[in-house]
Amino acid sequence: MAIETMTTALPISFFPFLLLVPAIFFTICHANSNLLCVPSEREALLKFKNHLIDPSNRLSSWVEGGDCCKWIGVVCLNLTGHVHQLHLAAPLSPYEQSALGGKINPSLLELNHLSTLDLSNNNFSSIHIPKLFGLLESLTYLNLSRAQFQGAIPHNLGNLSKLQYLDLRGNDLISESLQWVSGLSSLQYLDLSYANLSKATDWLQVTFKHPSLLELHLSACILEDDPHLISVNSSKSLAVLDLSWNSLSSVPKSISSLHGLVSIDLRFNSLDGRIPDYFGNISFLEVLDLHQNSLNSSIPNSLFCLNHLRFLHLSSPIPDYFGNISFLEVLDLSWNHLNSSIPNSLYSLNRLQLLSLWYTWLQGTISSAIGNLSSVTHLDLSENQLNGQIPLSIGELSSLKLFDVSKNQLNGQIPMSIGQLSSLEVFDVSENQLNGTFPLSFGRLESLETLDCGYNLLGVVSETHFSNLTRLTTLAASHNRLRFELNSSWIPPFQCEWIDLGHWHLGPKFPQWLKFQKKLSYLDISYAGISDVMPTWFLNLPTQFKHLNLSSNQLRGEISYLNVRNIVDLSSNRFIGPLPRVSPTLLFLMLSNNSFSGSLFELLCNSSSTKRMEILYIDKNLISGDIPDCWNHWQNLNLLNLGSNSLTGKIPPSLWHLNLIMLNLRNNTMFGELPSTLQNSPNLVMFDLSENHFSGRLPAWIGDKLSNLVILSLRSNNFDGHIPHKICDIQFLQNLDLAHNNISGVIPKCFNNLSAMATTNKTNNFVFVKYVDADSFTLGLVTSMDLSANSLTGEIPKEIGSLVGLLSLNFSGNLLTGNIPDSIGNMELMESLDLSMNRLNGEIPPSFSNLNFLNHFNNCSSKGIPIDVANNGSSREGSKVNWLYVSIVLGFVMGFWGVVAPLFFIRSWRHAYYRKLDHVGRKLYVSWATMGM
Ligand SMILES: *[C@@H]1O[C@H](CO)[C@@H](O)[C@H](O)[C@H]1NC(C)=O
Ligand SMILES: *[C@@H]1O[C@H](CO)[C@@H](O)[C@H](O)[C@H]1NC(C)=O
Ligand SMILES: *[C@@H]1O[C@H](CO)[C@@H](O)[C@H](O)[C@H]1NC(C)=O
Ligand SMILES: *[C@@H]1O[C@H](CO)[C@@H](O)[C@H](O)[C@H]1NC(C)=O
Ligand SMILES: *[C@@H]1O[C@H](CO)[C@@H](O)[C@H](O)[C@H]1NC(C)=O
Ligand SMILES: *[C@@H]1O[C@H](CO)[C@@H](O)[C@H](O)[C@H]1NC(C)=O
Repeated sequence: MAIETMTTALPISFFPFLLLVPAIFFTICHANSNLLCVPSEREALLKFKNHLIDPSNRLSSWVEGGDCCKWIGVVCLNLTGHVHQLHLAAPLSPYEQSALGGKINPSLLELNHLSTLDLSNNNFSSIHIPKLFGLLESLTYLNLSRAQFQGAIPHNLGNLSKLQYLDLRGNDLISESLQWVSGLSSLQYLDLSYANLSKATDWLQVTFKHPSLLELHLSACILEDDPHLISVNSSKSLAVLDLSWNSLSSVPKSISSLHGLVSIDLRFNSLDGRIPDYFGNISFLEVLDLHQNSLNSSIPNSLFCLNHLRFLHLSSPIPDYFGNISFLEVLDLSWNHLNSSIPNSLYSLNRLQLLSLWYTWLQGTISSAIGNLSSVTHLDLSENQLNGQIPLSIGELSSLKLFDVSKNQLNGQIPMSIGQLSSLEVFDVSENQLNGTFPLSFGRLESLETLDCGYNLLGVVSETHFSNLTRLTTLAASHNRLRFELNSSWIPPFQCEWIDLGHWHLGPKFPQWLKFQKKLSYLDISYAGISDVMPTWFLNLPTQFKHLNLSSNQLRGEISYLNVRNIVDLSSNRFIGPLPRVSPTLLFLMLSNNSFSGSLFELLCNSSSTKRMEILYIDKNLISGDIPDCWNHWQNLNLLNLGSNSLTGKIPPSLWHLNLIMLNLRNNTMFGELPSTLQNSPNLVMFDLSENHFSGRLPAWIGDKLSNLVILSLRSNNFDGHIPHKICDIQFLQNLDLAHNNISGVIPKCFNNLSAMATTNKTNNFVFVKYVDADSFTLGLVTSMDLSANSLTGEIPKEIGSLVGLLSLNFSGNLLTGNIPDSIGNMELMESLDLSMNRLNGEIPPSFSNLNFLNHFNNCSSKGIPIDVANNGSSREGSKVNWLYVSIVLGFVMGFWGVVAPLFFIRSWRHAYYRKLDHVGRKLYVSWATMGM
């Protein structure tokens, strides 16, 4: 019989702290071939199966007439053949769609001996937990976690008096009272995380007083404070208490009577005030997690007596003294405002295995005493303001697996001693100022012997650094000032999965040593000064990349196929030939600024590569011909930039079926009118058709239907007609460029409704974040309006003066008449104003003395004429100015596409936080986070 063995040992594992997990044995009765299952139970199982939906046919072995004890997931009792366990959890793989769904048939009730039922990770798409589970009297183990159940938890589950283990985590459940839990008189493990228990005000009474419960997880249950003090029978009480991600504002006082506690997790609540002293009485405490609360005290002295404490995760200052807790194995103070230097006390924690001080505003240097942390395997000091050098003593941390000091201000050379860290798996020094100055300040003179002549080459990382790093999987050192000085025949001793050497000096030859990296999944060697033909072996590497960034080098040659799963960036190189074929899973394809030629047809129409693609940039190439009408399958495309090619023809109708956020067709030779189907693209934020031959009237609906526009540029086309008043309704519009068309009529008075131009509050710039899932957009945008070189008539409306956010205004080259409105003097941010080549008359309004930029106006402007308002607003009273030529242009560069177009993959804090929690899963996670997969 495979009976669950309850392990009562308390494993110290860094993260999920699981106690009492029954050992799961799939004893499929292979030893006893005579054993056949009980026929009535076989019928019951088949009936159960028939009501399930099993898209991946996981239960294919469940067939009529078979020995049900041999079926997948079924475990029988050895002697009687009764079904004892059903293990039907779906594998947790994002790629495998093997969740069971459908209905749960009451035939299960015929399995009188069923002791274990595991249906976790399936998808019962929002049915309630069936009441019949409460009738399975023999159950000792019930796991329905993450199975998409919904609604109230049936109270009759409380009848399962033999149940020891109940896991309902991660469903969409609600319970208004936990009284039913009292009925579970054998219960040892309870997980109701993510259920809504906001109305279950008895949660604390029931769970703390429960006679057998050892492990309780009520994470993210919307729990609020319960001020009751519960008296607990001290002989039997909880060992593991997880109340993380709730709304508790104080630590429940009753915790002080739970003397058996070994682990307390109160992360992500709203606890404020001091860390309670009585934690010091919980003498067997091993794990204390109070991270992300508003507790403002430092660690109370009582805690220093806890000589079992192994894991401490706090948002508190680092103490100067660690007392008995110097046995700490895990100290995580990350994401915290320590704002200090690393205190010396820390370097004495020589049992530490994990030290995370990520994002804690640390300053100062890393002491060479870091070499004392002889047990440390994970050292994360990233995202601080640490300066100075990486101490040579780092080489003494012989167990080190992860070393992350990225995003600091460290300088000097990467110490040679890194080469001794033969356990090292993750090495991340990116975004520092490492350059290779001779490490004079290192105190340890004997080490100088190891500093061989390699150091004569300042700023050089030499291959000897890596010779012992055979386990390295992540090498990240981008954004420093480092150079690789390698023998061209170097064969790296490691097989990395992640290499990020962007902004290194790797060139001019393509790094040959990458040939030997058989597991590479992420490669960034952008801005690396490589000027070479793209080697064929690289394109034929056996692995599939997830992320490949070769941008901003001088790579040449043709590329026929790119085997990359998620992101490709080849922009700013010198690739030629037809556009490459890409993998059907690709999300971002960036080929800007190369010399790719030929038509778009193959890529758009003949490939299956379209379903997932979100970003396609092929601007600044030599692509010619029409844009084919093949966009129907590009459902996920958000950003499309085909600017500065030689495209011609009309915009194909299928393009308007996409949910585009950005469309840039600037600088081609396309023509035609704006079709009414353009109204189907209400999410457009940037719309740029400038420098083409488009024609026709500006449609009136543009303000109604494209109400999210931030940038509208139709410059240098043949548009005619009037400026529709509806444009004034586009509340986010920051950049309106209709220059060089044939637009006539007057400048609408309602322009003062353009609220994004009428505010000086540039936080509106972040409007983009709203539209791009992955928080991946930053937008630095010059607020401007250019209506120059049209046939606009009438006066300049005084309402224009309300657009105080404008940095640039150009009405030149029209037929405008009358005076300059005085209100223009209100536009204090203005840096460029051009009203020349109109029929304006009158004087410069006195208010112009408010225009700040005039204070540093220089005479060099080619179009402008010097005017004397700069220093003394009143002196030009009465002076006559030839308004034909008033143009005041500062050295102000408009080219906003240069500012807007680059994508920055800024991860939200939350993503970054999770990335840090799990360094192992990090590569995968970063990809997910940035792509919203
Ligand atoms: C049941 O039989 C299997 C296979 O022979 C064996 O591995 C298992 O230990 C047995 N269980 C018990 C409780 O005897
Ligand atoms: C569960 O199934 C429903 C219905 O088939 C589906 O809409 C939903 O997306 C699925 N959920 C998950 C997490 O797979
Ligand atoms: C590599 O390890 C060997 C043996 O442990 C050691 O002698 C050598 O100095 C190490 N190399 C480097 C570069 O640290
Ligand atoms: C390296 O950086 C340090 C500190 O920033 C600087 O003083 C030194 O001149 C740099 N050395 C080289 C070779 O660039
Ligand atoms: C327009 O595109 C052509 C190539 O078709 C390019 O040479 C030119 O520089 C582009 N102009 C601008 C302003 O980008
Ligand atoms: C700027 O706008 C943001 C959001 O629109 C608002 O939260 C903030 O208070 C504003 N700041 C000022 C100085 O008006």
